Amino acid sequence: MAVERTLSIIKPDATERNITGKVNQRLEDAGLRIVAQKRLKLTEEQAKAFYIVHKDRKFYQDLVNFMTSGPVVVQVLEGDNAIAKNREVMGATNPEEAAPGTIRADFARDIEANSVHGSDSPETAAGEIKFFFSDIEVVG
Ligand code: TYD
Repeated sequence: MAVERTLSIIKPDATERNITGKVNQRLEDAGLRIVAQKRLKLTEEQAKAFYIVHKDRKFYQDLVNFMTSGPVVVQVLEGDNAIAKNREVMGATNPEEAAPGTIRADFARDIEANSVHGSDSPETAAGEIKFFFSDIEVVG
């Protein structure tokens, strides 16, 4: 199995409830290693750029408003098959459809305030990690 890196974001609904440690515990219990992490408040411009693939979707501006509504924790996760593994631990986008025991099933408020982000492919992971971190900030 390949060792991969993926970009994870703990979203404003989770930082607001002070559950970033609980989310990190789920990630670590799944064998994912947090090899970079920082807390920041996204600007409108940053949130728009990060979610640019969704620019024509009707939820885009609401999503940008939500992602700029409070602090986020951005992180790089490393491990065997990290991209798919993180998606599995996160659960489906809509918490009503997320498998029991996943982060979104247990913590998400709704399809928008769904607690976590995770890259969905090696290509997006590489781009999303670069979006937030320089090489010297990621320590495996
Ligand atoms: P998407 O990339 O489809 O899901 P995921 O985060 O599971 O990769 O969507 C990105 C984010 O956009 C999603 O986490 C929350 C938001 N979103 C909505 O607010 N409404 C929607 O109907 C969808 C599909 C997504």
